[in-house]
Amino acid sequence: MTQTSPIVALRGLRLARGERTILRDVDLLVEPGQVVAVLGPSGCGKSTLMAALTGELAPADGSVEVLGRPMPRGGRELLELRRGIGVLLQGNGLLTDLTVAENVALPLRTHTDLPDAVIRRLVEMKLHAVGLRAAADAYPRELSGGMARRVALARALALDPPLMIYDEPLTGLDPIASGVVMSLVRRLNDTLGLTSIVVTHHVHETLPVADRALVIANGRIVFAGTPAELEKSDDPFVQQFLRGAPDGPIAFDAAPRVAGAAA
Ligand SMILES: Nc1ncnc2c1ncn2[C@@H]1O[C@H](COP(=O)(O)OP(=O)(O)OP(=O)(O)O)[C@@H](O)[C@H]1O
Ligand SMILES: [Mg+2]
Repeated sequence: MTQTSPIVALRGLRLARGERTILRDVDLLVEPGQVVAVLGPSGCGKSTLMAALTGELAPADGSVEVLGRPMPRGGRELLELRRGIGVLLQGNGLLTDLTVAENVALPLRTHTDLPDAVIRRLVEMKLHAVGLRAAADAYPRELSGGMARRVALARALALDPPLMIYDEPLTGLDPIASGVVMSLVRRLNDTLGLTSIVVTHHVHETLPVADRALVIANGRIVFAGTPAELEKSDDPFVQQFLRGAPDGPIAFDAAPRVAGAAA
């Protein structure tokens, strides 16, 4: 893999759940070092797209390449590729009876045979990176929502994945904690040399730190470009989404429920 080969390459991708097409005609290249915001109304298929990037959902058509390799269909190869992808899922998934440090250590204990002292040092570094070294011995219930999100972020970073995927990292956070988490996403991306994909409907918190934005609506990507281009776009889908208007070309209510609406 050369330096300039894309971190993610999706070509002619169609994703389906059972008989129903959720997304189609997806073509996307994500270059190394970028922070890409994936925007769109609830139920439009953002998480479905992420499931394709982690190999959980196989394409109905087209191809998925991640970290310079075609997505394996399963087995050892898939597990190996997944180690290169740090995923922060909606909700933090922290284990409540483990301390912060033990939570962050978990992927290292599961996937490496590093000695204890090295794991402790790595955990300290990850917690330092998210500004929470002092909270190492706390339990998740003792943390604020924003702190817990940052611990989950540290855990997602534990194995030094070159690609980070955040699915709704701001859910349940107040505006201040949201600002802290988003600037952390950008800073970690740049200082650790990562590539980041941020799925969110928090447009105004996310666009300022993004290099590129995608808008998904009605079963396809309706916009791909810079945040500045997005603000200027006169595409009716994009405008409706940015303004949060209930009436317009995006069928907010009908699309997720009507069978075949996106097919
Ligand atoms: N495992 C599944 N089986 C069947 N249908 C599914 C499955 N997961 C998602 N869907 C359907 O696919 C569509 C897209 O869902 P998805 O979760 O990708 O949306 P989303 O954009 O992430 O929404 P949100 O913003 O609410 O998280 C929805 O209509 C949903 O009902
Ligand atoms: Mg989702």
